[in-house]
Amino acid sequence: MKKKKIWFVAAVTLLGVALLSTRYYMVDLPVWHFFGGGEGPDPLTLHLEGEFVESNLGAAEDRTDDPADGPAGSLTVRMIAQQFVFVPQCVVVPAGVPIRFRITSADVVHKLSFLGTNYGLKAVPGVVTEATFTFPKPGQFKIPCHEFCGAGHYAMRGHLEVVPREQFAPLLAGERRNCEPR
Ligand code: CUA
Repeated sequence: MKKKKIWFVAAVTLLGVALLSTRYYMVDLPVWHFFGGGEGPDPLTLHLEGEFVESNLGAAEDRTDDPADGPAGSLTVRMIAQQFVFVPQCVVVPAGVPIRFRITSADVVHKLSFLGTNYGLKAVPGVVTEATFTFPKPGQFKIPCHEFCGAGHYAMRGHLEVVPREQFAPLLAGERRNCEPR
């Protein structure tokens, strides 16, 4: 009887470890970064250093000198998810162009869902999640959070504004990360 119990506990523990070590369930603890661990961006210093500083958020043309960038001339959108907003809250991108999203979280796991499409992207603390999406036509997309993340979860939503390419090109960096009327 006792032996059976030990095997059961061992099996559950193994399953737990396997789940926790997969990307979606991985919980990144600030203490790991403190001791020099953690491979991705440190959730505590996201806003202060590295590719997720505020001036680098939103849509930007890739530069060849940055290892986190794609081929020169392609577009990358960087966003942070945190309880209970997306930073930036609104991103402007051109229509008909592949757009690489790089997303991370400053606290718990969130999920961006682009309403009206089947595009979605998890935001995991300590991890950069990347995916490339193309929005064929101009339009507005709400980005509700689709992963329960706490008390404000149901009000957590960002926006994506897809504009014609020729309208996007002259926009300044600051204008690409807010959707106020231009
Ligand atoms: Cu963020 Cu739910």
